[in-house]
Amino acid sequence: MKAKQVKPDIYWVGAIDWNVRDFHGYVTPRGTTYNNFLIVDRKIALVDTVKREFADVMFERIRCLTEPEKIEVGIINHIELDHAGSWDLVVERCENITLYATERGKQGLERHFNTAGWDIQTVKTGDTLKLGKKTLLFIETPMLHWPDSMMTYVKEDRLLISQDAFGQHFAQAVLFDDLVPQETLEDAVIDYYANILMPFGRLIEAKIAELQRLGLEIDMIAPDHGVIWRKNPEKAIRMYLEMAKGRAEEGVVIVYDTMWHSTERMSRAVLDGIVDEGMYAEVIKLRDTPMSVAIKQFWRYRGLLVGTPTLNNVMFPTVAEFLQHLRGLRPSNRIASAFGSYGWGGGGVREALQVLRSMKLEVVEPGYEVNYRPSSREYEQGYDFGRLFAQRVREYHRKFEQEVVV
Ligand code: FEO
Repeated sequence: MKAKQVKPDIYWVGAIDWNVRDFHGYVTPRGTTYNNFLIVDRKIALVDTVKREFADVMFERIRCLTEPEKIEVGIINHIELDHAGSWDLVVERCENITLYATERGKQGLERHFNTAGWDIQTVKTGDTLKLGKKTLLFIETPMLHWPDSMMTYVKEDRLLISQDAFGQHFAQAVLFDDLVPQETLEDAVIDYYANILMPFGRLIEAKIAELQRLGLEIDMIAPDHGVIWRKNPEKAIRMYLEMAKGRAEEGVVIVYDTMWHSTERMSRAVLDGIVDEGMYAEVIKLRDTPMSVAIKQFWRYRGLLVGTPTLNNVMFPTVAEFLQHLRGLRPSNRIASAFGSYGWGGGGVREALQVLRSMKLEVVEPGYEVNYRPSSREYEQGYDFGRLFAQRVREYHRKFEQEVVV
């Protein structure tokens, strides 16, 4: 397997994971890549590694360019094991290697590996390292994605190696953004952001502002997953800024589950009302849909409706799991409500509304509840509830769009 040139004397030596579908619980229908880079200069530098099971592939690519033993510099942008998992194998081969990481990166590395005898230097934002002709500049990016994270900027090539940020779980035989279908790429960016970076919107805004303050000219952004932004790095930055500010499409996603199809029938009544109000809506049944898909579609639209039957006086388990997952992602700038069927005591819708309120979303109350199955009259109530919710989404969305300028 060959190395691929990214810039003069800078090569991609990573791995394509076509088959991964479960990325620590997150569904990756398009697989992913583990991107890492070899910079061939007076000193040879390896920026990040790959997931351990792909280490042989990485070494094979490196061997197209040089003997791996000649690597003298190792840059650890991030210690999560999809990128750091092969550092011990690199250090084992490279007697003279010095590793560079943030302070938190060094600490994390020491927890993951037996680092006795490793030469690990710590760096912080603004530090530089001269390899020969090329100069590396380090920029700490704590919590993007972990506390240890940093980016590496190659000054002479205006190349930002951005680790997880601007990435996509998108296995591709081609390296660059202009060689893939744009709609698929955009969907992969949203999917990745929603499921991984949603909690860090403010940090992302601040970090992009910091990059601009540093005056870095960026010709290319090379994340550690997916395609490299060669033609349109501005698009990656713009998409991230828009998502960080909470931009969404005017529309509704109805996320529900059902026991005996009553809550499902209610979802259709609500859907009819939303659509007749002239608003786009999608329906997702949780038991038939991967969690990460539901999260992505939630993030895409301004409005969320949660449909839950009551089971033992609380929400249906799949709905509870969805809301628990969503709560951890700390969503903002969305409007929500809940509906569902109950048999006797009720409680599911009440609990769902409570969780939505606890997330500090705009909540439309009191929701829409039906005992057992919806009658014709109750179907009409659901339809009216859908229309009302769509109106509230539209108002909220327009207000947001007026206040937020990207
Ligand atoms: Fe792709 Fe946070 O690791």
